[in-house]
Amino acid sequence: MLNIAVLPGDGIGPEIISEAIKVLKAISEKRNIDFNFNYYDVGGIAIDKHSEPLPQSTLDACKNSDAVLFGAIGDPKFDNDPDSTMRPEQGLLKLRKELGLYANLRPVKSYSQLVEFSPLKMDRIENVDMLIVRELTGGLYFGKKKSSKTSASDLCEYSIDEIERITKIAVNYAKIRRKKITLIDKANVLETSRLWRKTVQNISKKHSDINFEYMFVDNAAMQIITNPKQFDVILTENLFGDIISDEASVIAGSIGILCSSSIGKNKGLFEPIHGSFPQAKNKNIANPIATILSAAMMLEFLNLNEESRIIKKAVNISLENKISTADLNKYNPSTTSEVGDYISKKIKEENL
Ligand code: IPM
Ligand code: MN
Repeated sequence: MLNIAVLPGDGIGPEIISEAIKVLKAISEKRNIDFNFNYYDVGGIAIDKHSEPLPQSTLDACKNSDAVLFGAIGDPKFDNDPDSTMRPEQGLLKLRKELGLYANLRPVKSYSQLVEFSPLKMDRIENVDMLIVRELTGGLYFGKKKSSKTSASDLCEYSIDEIERITKIAVNYAKIRRKKITLIDKANVLETSRLWRKTVQNISKKHSDINFEYMFVDNAAMQIITNPKQFDVILTENLFGDIISDEASVIAGSIGILCSSSIGKNKGLFEPIHGSFPQAKNKNIANPIATILSAAMMLEFLNLNEESRIIKKAVNISLENKISTADLNKYNPSTTSEVGDYISKKIKEENL
């Protein structure tokens, strides 16, 4: 029995999560896997119901589960009060920290069926396949914060240990991929970046089979859209990773298909990289694929590789047949639940 903590969150979160659960139930039926799904509040809904973005009960449940499946958080009603210390995002940040999820993996691929949806030129994005390895529990996000009436500051701090452990993750992935790591930093200006570079250079000496490259983040922001094929594994710190992963999503054609996993020592949290898309809430129009693919990543983490492969295959078939929400099929869109139904049906009825 696998215990999965399910945290739908805000906005479109509950809708996309129900499609991922539908797909997981299909795979459980097909392959006889026993899942136990338990639902908990996080984000804006948790502020409304429990007066805090990450209630202790949610945190405890996540700690005691085999994996966490996360929807999205954020609600514009919390944006209007910049002085508020209570924000939905804090729920996710605290969860990452408390579970020790220091490595955020964001694969970015161009799907041949979707190249037309990217605003970028086809010859630039065809066959792009990169993995962004973003450090997730350090840097500016978690450094000491200060603010007074007239000034504010966020401290950016990294230790060698923090850099080494995430670099090891990047190395492991590079070894099973195209054996290249690009460290993205700002070592021409920032002390933390210089420490990153030195630490990664030291580790690189032990891995002569891997090609290490170093790139300043401003240049990288340009290279990611002008020449994305050069990247295999991108290794970077928390804030740079946040920014360049949204940028890289343009390559895939829609941010609605990009999945992610956040892993620590023996915990894993799986979530789409997009936000809570409040304008689409309850409209049954949001793309559930990023969450369905995040569920596939979760199965890999749980050593259910064949089951994960089947889900990815079924997703591919849905994309090929244009059973897609409006972001990927403007003239004849399917609804969120129709996409989930189609993928589940393929899993149940076909030999994928
Ligand atoms: C992400 C999100 C989060 C982040 C927010 C919701 C705190 O943008 O997962 O990329 O900045 O890390
Ligand atoms: Mn982000």
